[in-house]
Amino acid sequence: MTKPLIINKKIKFFNKIIKVDGDKSLSIRWVLLASQANGKSKAFNLLMSEDVLAAIETIKKLGIKVKIFKNYCEIGGNGINGFNYKNNLILNAKNSGTLGRLILGLLIRSSKKIKLVGDRSLSKRDFSRVTIPLNKFGAKFSYKLKNRLPLTILGSKFPKGINYFENKGSAQCKSSVMLAALNASETTFIKAKKSRNHTELLFRYLKIPLKIKKTKKYDFIKVKQPKEIRAFNYQIPGDISSSAFFMVLTTLTKDSKLLIKNVNINPSRTGVIKILKKMGAKISLKNKKNYKGEKISDIMIKSSVNLKAINCPSELNSSVIDELLVVFLAAAKAKGVSYFKNISELNQKESPRLNWGSKILNMMGIKTKLTKNSITIYGQPNLQINKKIIIKNFLKDHRIFMMSTIAALTCGGQWNIYNKDSINTSFPSFLKIIKQINSKPL
Ligand code: S3P
Repeated sequence: MTKPLIINKKIKFFNKIIKVDGDKSLSIRWVLLASQANGKSKAFNLLMSEDVLAAIETIKKLGIKVKIFKNYCEIGGNGINGFNYKNNLILNAKNSGTLGRLILGLLIRSSKKIKLVGDRSLSKRDFSRVTIPLNKFGAKFSYKLKNRLPLTILGSKFPKGINYFENKGSAQCKSSVMLAALNASETTFIKAKKSRNHTELLFRYLKIPLKIKKTKKYDFIKVKQPKEIRAFNYQIPGDISSSAFFMVLTTLTKDSKLLIKNVNINPSRTGVIKILKKMGAKISLKNKKNYKGEKISDIMIKSSVNLKAINCPSELNSSVIDELLVVFLAAAKAKGVSYFKNISELNQKESPRLNWGSKILNMMGIKTKLTKNSITIYGQPNLQINKKIIIKNFLKDHRIFMMSTIAALTCGGQWNIYNKDSINTSFPSFLKIIKQINSKPL
């Protein structure tokens, strides 16, 4: 095991401007959709993390040309289902649930067998949530171990359209089916619980026939196969999931101020801002812009050490799913008892994050009550850790590593946090930015 990150000191007050790495959801979607377009597409500020590089590697193995330049990435698509590969190809989604699930949607017309594998963490995650609907299109799947990778897919010559009810609030499931619909001769109908809508916004921008009717709880989506997808350029904005760690860091550090430039603030992702603000955090949005259907803005955060507990409304869960861990940390330092319910999905991530979140708070001396789908957190605004805390064996979950780092920098104690490299999954610049913030004021 490589050396742990050691943190023995809280961060000092700061006043800085930062930029976080590109949005992971948009980066992976751009790679996959550019692979289905006709001609050369370019992306600027593409997230160069392991998940996105795995997506690039995957489409390369499927016969798509990719060039990486200093400032941009170029993908030469061959049109819808224009993949070209040999029989029994092996694709590796590594740590990425998004890649593993979305790529299967694009493969429902594959005429040759393809095996999909992943790393130890991804091999523990459920794939039936996408293979059940994709099977309805006509694609065939086989597993060695029930519903777990590795799996084999063999597509159908004539995929049909399907009716699909997505009831978990999973954008991965919804998007996998939407990508599959690009290959189906008939219309696909989806009733989906609310979740991030980047795929819908990209489809609309690309003029893929799409109709959406929204109700309070569900989106009713109709997708038809387009004649073609034109090549498209994209400037990837910063990732709000990466920004969230710095929102909490700044909120919990006295006399501090941080401006995060150019972040995607798509309303289906901004639960973290809404929740932290309800708790009393000082967060404001500056310089708002629209970009190809997405919303982008700078985020200003000022410290706010008097946080209040929250009874988190379940409707916000899907818009904060990747940020909940660091929100738990804010709740640990808030006055009162916080409650988060209907969050069993959090245990379906790169590691069982609900259990891990609770465990880390307990190690810090914070009392929690954990059930299969909820957590109660007994906040301690004056928490001051004086002991040694070792964080390891967390399936290299990048967000466990980053949450622990923020806990160490804001709560004190002597921390040894293993698996530094896990940040390369989603946010390679994380520790560099921590260093930048921790350096002397400008
Ligand atoms: C993602 C969807 C979410 C999220 C993941 C990225 C996406 O997963 O947790 O990090 O890009 O579609 P689920 O669809 O499983 O909720």
